[in-house]
Amino acid sequence: MTGWHRIGAVTDIPRRGARCVLTPFGRVAVFRTANDGIFATEDRCPHKGGPLSQGIVHDASVTCPLHNMVFSLESGIAAGPDEGRVRVFAVRVDPPTGDIELSLDEPALVLAAE
Ligand code: FES
Repeated sequence: MTGWHRIGAVTDIPRRGARCVLTPFGRVAVFRTANDGIFATEDRCPHKGGPLSQGIVHDASVTCPLHNMVFSLESGIAAGPDEGRVRVFAVRVDPPTGDIELSLDEPALVLAAE
């Protein structure tokens, strides 16, 4: 699963919403913010497994639908007094097509390939 994988168009995801992609690492949630920022995290809250794809997207963060922990979509780090981190994946948008591309590469493998 190295490299970039096309997973659909930006317009397939509602603003302030998410859609899920099944991967060898489990479900990955791909988010679209109000200003069309695209982010990807595992679709599993590190607290008790809540589906982050069903959370509330605000700015570049998502609030877990189960117990309201807030995670940065950029870093995956929990905000405020909460502790925890959700795994984030690299995404990019191909400008001519508007397609979203997802990378599942481990950071170590990315470094090794450069
Ligand atoms: S499962 Fe996400 S905050 Fe509890």
